[in-house]
Amino acid sequence: MGNNLQIRTVNYKMMDNIICISTTGETSYSTKNLSPGNCQVFKYSDNSKSFEIFLVKPLIKLEENNGDNLFAYKNICPHQKIPLDWKPGNFFNYNKNAIQCSTHGALFRINDGFCFKGPCSGKSLEKVKFKIINDKIIFFFVN
Ligand code: FES
Repeated sequence: MGNNLQIRTVNYKMMDNIICISTTGETSYSTKNLSPGNCQVFKYSDNSKSFEIFLVKPLIKLEENNGDNLFAYKNICPHQKIPLDWKPGNFFNYNKNAIQCSTHGALFRINDGFCFKGPCSGKSLEKVKFKIINDKIIFFFVN
């Protein structure tokens, strides 16, 4: 019967700097609102789990084939499995050329989440797939 993709327009709302994700991964967020050198946090929750995703737009273009120059990861540091942003929504190091965990300072590459310095060196952030449809970002995560 064709494509069964359902886009639901419920279950999201603005909460401070966090935008909620619906159970289908849809958000109300236009990526045009994110300027280079900034991040946006999204929250997913259902009866059994809750987690955050952060979307990163680096200052400089990192991958030629990534037209929007956007990268998304779960907000969980591989060192102690806690959120990276001690200051909510702040994921960059000082120069904004890496993602930095604010607890012990681990540094991660922006384009693939690989930790190149710090207590979890060699591990990676969990990447989250997404698509931009009708100017809105939609995440795809494993339930
Ligand atoms: S919890 Fe992130 S570096 Fe230790």
